This record gives sequence, structure tokens and C-alpha cells, in this order.
Amino acid sequence: MKLGVCYYPEQWPESQWPTDAEQMAALGIKVVRVGEFSWSRIESERGRYSWEWLDRAIELLAAQGLKVVLGTPTATPPKWLVDECPDILAVDKLGHARKFGSRRHYCFSSQRYRDECRQIVSVMVQRYGNNPAVIAWQTDNEFGCHLTTVSYSKNAVSAFRRWLQQKYISIDRLNEAWGTVFWSQEYQTFEQVDPPAATVTEANPAHRLDYRRFASDEVVSFNKLQVDILKHYAPQADVIHNFMGFFTEFDHHAVGRDLDISSWDSYPLGFLDQGWFSDEEKIAYLRQGHPDFAAFHHDLYRGCSKGRMWVMEQQPGPVNWAPHNPAPLPGMVRTWTWEAFAHGAEVVSYFRWRQAPFAQEQMHAGLNLPNGEQDIAAFEATQVAQEIEQYSPAILNETKVASSPVALVFTYESEWITEIQPQGKNFSCFEFNYACYTALRELGLDVDIVSADATLDAYALIVCPCIPHVSSVLHATLSKLQQPVLFGMRTGSKTESFQIPAELPPGPLSSLIPITIERVESLRPGAKEGVSYNNSAYQVERWLEWVDSSLTPLASTGDGKGIWFNDKNVHYLATWPDKELLREVIRRVSKQAGLLTEILPEGIRTRCFGAAKFIFNYNSHAVTLRDTQQRKFILGSSEIPAGGLAIIELK
Ligand code: GAL
Repeated sequence: MKLGVCYYPEQWPESQWPTDAEQMAALGIKVVRVGEFSWSRIESERGRYSWEWLDRAIELLAAQGLKVVLGTPTATPPKWLVDECPDILAVDKLGHARKFGSRRHYCFSSQRYRDECRQIVSVMVQRYGNNPAVIAWQTDNEFGCHLTTVSYSKNAVSAFRRWLQQKYISIDRLNEAWGTVFWSQEYQTFEQVDPPAATVTEANPAHRLDYRRFASDEVVSFNKLQVDILKHYAPQADVIHNFMGFFTEFDHHAVGRDLDISSWDSYPLGFLDQGWFSDEEKIAYLRQGHPDFAAFHHDLYRGCSKGRMWVMEQQPGPVNWAPHNPAPLPGMVRTWTWEAFAHGAEVVSYFRWRQAPFAQEQMHAGLNLPNGEQDIAAFEATQVAQEIEQYSPAILNETKVASSPVALVFTYESEWITEIQPQGKNFSCFEFNYACYTALRELGLDVDIVSADATLDAYALIVCPCIPHVSSVLHATLSKLQQPVLFGMRTGSKTESFQIPAELPPGPLSSLIPITIERVESLRPGAKEGVSYNNSAYQVERWLEWVDSSLTPLASTGDGKGIWFNDKNVHYLATWPDKELLREVIRRVSKQAGLLTEILPEGIRTRCFGAAKFIFNYNSHAVTLRDTQQRKFILGSSEIPAGGLAIIELK
């Protein structure tokens, strides 16, 4: 459990660096990330390298005992490079180049840019790879940020055609898979295939899905190119990338496989304001963030790199990029930090050391004000640093180690499929995954979010909220499970080629539960159907499947449509239930899994880690916990302040 900070020495006079380093160490910071946007300072013109400033900055940090994460600067190709080779730029759907002047303007498919990256990463790691202060490398910065995963450049088009050729070998197979006989779309050669952009009405969904898969693969290979160089010259250092919140444009599981650690950038308030949450939630959690936002991503990214996870950027105060940017509740930065540790983060690093008085992010808070005085987050970070010293022995006591009883299986491809074919405007696969996660957490359960090729044997309960294409690997894994598995709507509804399975949905799942989905409906906002279950009334919305089955449904709509089916250990939910019904469903399958659940008070979440149970209060008011007389508090008490936390010994 270490604290870190993001620092940009190149943005400050050198006379300030020694004080900065001293203050970081005094505050309890252990790790400093530098360099990820500094290309123009490292190489001001082709081949003219200036390392001395970075040497001195790293030396000053190291002299204070601080460890360094060096970012490769490839998210910001400098002006001279863009002018010299404009074809490295990404191109939007309408064919316009995404120009220089902000960041992330490169195209993942540009071979030329890949060569430039190979060069800058090589010279950088050759210089610092043996530096004992440099313990880790960050590849690039936030792949895909500002919607930059998909590009329509000439480079991307050629790479896509090669990708198709490798996948389908013959054009006939592509025609068959995509169903191009529809609307006379048949191709004679791979050279004829364009990206699915600027068509009159929607392009072929299989074509679109393949373009998304291709774009994702380009991110994977772009990252891998850097990882290989870094590992070659600095085999002892960890290689990390910083992923984002609510972001599904590429397959993070695939990128994560090549990393030692998956990290992410946690901005709970920005994502509450711009997320799908209701107006009531946006007000109730205004200064705390949604109670599941950070936890969801900790659990998701922990599952991307063999269990190792960091928070590379932690929100310290108001950000500048959401529609509205409130300040965190006093104590909230501390709580977010502890919550990350409770979910297994090895490092929580604040963004950024000092607020910049210039350029795009001058309205973004840091640990320090632009004039160098400490801002609120600096005091909270200091407090956490002291608390880590004091309490980590009790928390990390290895006599008891908690593990998550529930696996939630999520695939990025599922999100692409349902974005390409939502069928209902208000349908979001990702949102439903999040809703299931919330229901599990409201019942006090800890969750691992895992990929479709994860080993699931050790979990008591498996939840697959929405996986339209069930791969043969996942199907084989699921077929062997004895423990309860809950499938949500649309699971098994598409083949690999974006077609309706020959046996009708849920396709391969019909070997696990005898149901056939004969028709699906999507419902506009406000249109709801009543459901009764266990003598209580609930509602379902957005999505309704008409299921044919020999099974007697566990719950049905008023007009008799079964919406929840169960056969032995397998459950299938054929609709989008309201919050209460979803919780009941999860409660029942958890019980069948032998898991103890309790409905936590509104805004309260728990997480077991090491030998401790953490309790977080996401409310803007204090909460008094009941039944804690028998529990030993490591930190805090049964009265948890607004936005605060308590830590108790695990039973
Ligand atoms: C992240 C990014 C940082 C900074 C930050 C502001 O997305 O990695 O460079 O822009 O947001 O919140």
C-alpha cells in the first residue's frame, strides 16, 4: 500500500524541483510518475535528444528515496514529427485528420508511427532501464482517450484488409460470415472492403464488429510493441498501462495480458456527472461519486493483469472536463484512497502534484495550488500515509486472507455487439453489468470481474449479465460448473459472425438450460411491465424476451410471460429487472450458492481485504452501523462520518 503522485518537472522552473521532491517525501509519497507527455522536451527535433533535465529530475526524486514510473511519451507526438510525417495522424469517419494541438492525435495503424515509437521508447529505456530508481514503465497514456481507438486513415484501411484476409483466408468465407448477399454487398476481393463508415444507413453489423475487433487488436499490438522493448532493456521493471473509467473501446483483457500491472485513472466525480446515473443519484452522490464507480473499476482491472492493479491517477479535487465539476466532500480523497487499497491496489497515485496555471488543465486541481501551497487533498494524502504506517500490519496480517466469492464475467466484445445493435435506444450491456455489480455489492458480496477465459472453479457464484457471443471456451468452462450461474438477457444470442444462432437464442446455452427465445422486444423509457415474485410486485423495463420452455418460470409478467427460468444450477433472466427485483434474483442465487447476504444501508459498501473488512459510507450524512458490539475496529468506529470509512477485523 503505497502513495504516488503524477509530476511534470518540465512544466516548472528547475529551481522548484528540489523543494517539490522534499515535500513529496515529507508527505509520505513513495512513487512518482513522470515523463508521459514530454516528447518535445526529450527530442526537440529529429535525433536531437536532451536527457539531462530528466536525468536531474530523476536524481532529485531518487535522492529523497522516491521511486519513479517513467511514461513513454507516445501519446503526444511532437509538432516536428507530425509535420514531417502527417500520415501518422488518425482520421475520423468523415475523412478529416485529427490534428496536432491537443493529444492522442496518432493512428494506431501507422507503421511509420510505430517505427517512431520503437525509436523513442528504445532510446529512453536504454538510458533509464538500469536506473535503480525507475521501478516501472507506463506505456503511452490512456489508450483510446478522446475516442481515439478507431481510425479511418489509409493506414488503417490497408491494415484492416490484411486483418480480414488473415481471418477469413477467402473472400467467399467473409461474404458468408457477414451475409453480404443482403443488399447486394458481396465482395470479390479483400481490396474492395472499406471501413464501415459514411454509409447511407447502417453498415452491415458483422462488418462493424470486425472493424471494432480489428481496431482493438491494433491497440493490443501497439502496446505489445512497447512492452517488448521495455522488457528487453529493463526486465526487472514492471510494465503498466493506465486504463480509464467507463471505457470499453478496446479489449482491456487482451492488452492487460501483456502487462505486469493494469492501472487506471479514477475520477469518481467527473464520471458521476457525465455517466448514465439518474438526476437523484447525481445530487445524492455529488461530492462522493457513485458508491460502485471506483470499486467496479478496481475489480475489473484487477482481473486484467493476473491480479495486480494500481490507481495511476486519483482525483484530488475538482476536475476540468466533466459538464459540472464539484469539489469532493472533505475526507473523500482519503476514502477513495483506502477503497482502492481495499480492492487490492498496490499504489494509489494522485493526479497531479501541483495545479498548472497554464494550458488545457489549468482548472484541474492537484495536491497543491498553482502557488505551491498545499490544497485539501495534500492533507488527506498525508493522513492516509500516516494511517498506512499505523494500520497496515493489522490489515495485512496474513493469518486470514479474504477472497471474492462471486465472479462477474464481462467481455468487451459484448459491449461492441450491443452498441452496434442496441435494438432499444436505452439498452446498454455495460450499464447492466454495472447494475448487477451494484446489486451484488448492496448485498455485501465481494466480486471479481473476470474475462471469458478465466478459470471459474473457485467461485461460489458466477454471474454473466450479458454476453451475446458465448465463445466455445466460455461454453466449455460453463458446462463443467456445478455452482449456481446466472445468465442475463441476450446471452448466447449471436454467433461469432454476428448472426442469430441456428438453434435460436440462447444458442449454445440451450445445452445448459432448456429455453428458446422466440422474440425480443425493447421498451421505451417509462414503459414497464409488472412482475410478481414471492408475493411482491416488481417492474421490468427496457428489454423483454418471449421464452418458450418446458420449465415453470420463477417469475412472470402480468400477461404470463416467464422472465426468470431455473434448471438445477443454471438461471436465465430474460429481461431488465428493476433494482429491487434484480436484488431479489441475486439474493436467491446467492442463497443457492451458500452465500450469506445482508442488504446494506443505502450508500454503504463493504469490502474484505487481507485480515480486514472495510466499510465505506458514500452518503453525504453520517451513518451509525448496527450490530458492531462484537467487532474489533482497526480504524474508525460504528459512527461513520459522511464520505468516511471504518475498518474492522475480519471475523
Ligand atoms: C486523464 C489523463 C491525464 C489528465 C487527467 C485529468 O484522463 O490521463 O493526463 O488529463 O485525465 O483529469
